[in-house]
Amino acid sequence: MPSTKEKAKEVLLHNLYEVDLNNNHYRRTVPSREFYIHQWNWDSATHAMGLVHIDPSRAYDEIIALISGQWDNGLIAQITFNPNETKYFPGPKFWNTKQFSHGEISTSGITQPPLLGFSIWYVYQNSPDKKAASEFLSQVLPALKKYHYYLKTFRDPEDSGLLTVVHPWESGLDNSPRWDEPLKNISVDSIPDSVKILVNTYRSDDKIGNNTHRPGLEDYYRYMYLVHLFSEWNWDYTKIITNSPFAVKDILFNSLWALSNEALSSLCSVVGESEDSAYFLKIAHQTSEAIQNQWSDSDSLFLDIDVSRGQHKTISTNTISTFSPLMTSGITPKIIDSLISRLSDPSQYATPYPLPTTSLNNPVFETKRYWRGPTWPITNLFTIIGLHRNRQNPKCLLLRDSLISSTKQMIDSSGFFEYFDPTLGLARPNNQNAAYGFGTFSWTAAIYTLLSQPNLTDLKLPLET
Ligand code: DGY
Repeated sequence: MPSTKEKAKEVLLHNLYEVDLNNNHYRRTVPSREFYIHQWNWDSATHAMGLVHIDPSRAYDEIIALISGQWDNGLIAQITFNPNETKYFPGPKFWNTKQFSHGEISTSGITQPPLLGFSIWYVYQNSPDKKAASEFLSQVLPALKKYHYYLKTFRDPEDSGLLTVVHPWESGLDNSPRWDEPLKNISVDSIPDSVKILVNTYRSDDKIGNNTHRPGLEDYYRYMYLVHLFSEWNWDYTKIITNSPFAVKDILFNSLWALSNEALSSLCSVVGESEDSAYFLKIAHQTSEAIQNQWSDSDSLFLDIDVSRGQHKTISTNTISTFSPLMTSGITPKIIDSLISRLSDPSQYATPYPLPTTSLNNPVFETKRYWRGPTWPITNLFTIIGLHRNRQNPKCLLLRDSLISSTKQMIDSSGFFEYFDPTLGLARPNNQNAAYGFGTFSWTAAIYTLLSQPNLTDLKLPLET
């Protein structure tokens, strides 16, 4: 009987997708052959962190394939498409981005949470062959820097330290309750019929998957309306940032931005680029400070901000994203204590399959609907990294270790699914009813692999090395 770790390796092999484009051979890992059969930005960043422990050359190729779709302005898209795959909606023909990507490569027009910098750093640190790792680094570092310049220039034009995301898909947590209020800026009645017809005709996730677990129809009208607007504006990000009806300073996105800038700063110093190293460290600190300013004592939460069309409205919703700043520098002991008590509270996050993506006692919590409550291995990983960063605090250390083991046990007993019902689980082992979304899921396998590394808890994070 193969172990879960061996099965994780099989999942990652099963989801390998090889493709020839522009006379290059690419090896990508698709998130799930059941539906997500292209390459996703933050999925691939996660896959690479698992793959480096299985086959480092695949980790390198994963990142190389991802950056192959980079636009001239530096954007690395949320999706780099595989040709001829039609399961996923919205596929390439819905984005009107052909003039930005290169030759036979096509991409979407938005991005995803910037985990890539941390991933490249992790892959470099964990590569057994240092010569191969250096070659990999010199191949990918220019693209990573260009991506960070893109994000800083176009997503933080006011130099606040906080990047703006312009589509719920960019946040990675598409239908999180955090976006319920900002999405009200888009009235469904004002969405052109042509956009609704497109969704009604081509939407596929709710047919291939279970529609009671997926985002709702009105969510999809809004998602595609934003795609329609941005493509009308010819993907001009100066125009998009100013005019998009959805524009938020997202705490989770920005926490990863700070962490990845620290990682990029370390990588620049590895290759002797000290000026760049100092620059990326400076912007990491700027973001960490700006995130700390988003802590609300009265809510005991980090607050996102709706900045669409000149507004500045904070969003106070108790979700998993409030723990993501633990990954950044300088979180005060008082805030750490407050976050620990939330994490340890059975009426909020300490459920049988922790951590729900929305607090259990939030009235909008749902057990099975995508990002409205289910436990996802990726958000557990971010919380583990944050707790690890604060491991000098004994409570963080204990919680980190227990979250590593509960995440692994969840996957051991329920399989490599996309997400899990947080209220079931250990009390009902081998219960497939606890597992939801699409199956044979790559990042679940990659995260299992990473969490199974014997020296995981010895990991020194970028600024610690
Ligand atoms: C989807 O289509 O469900 C994805 O989350 C978008 O990236």
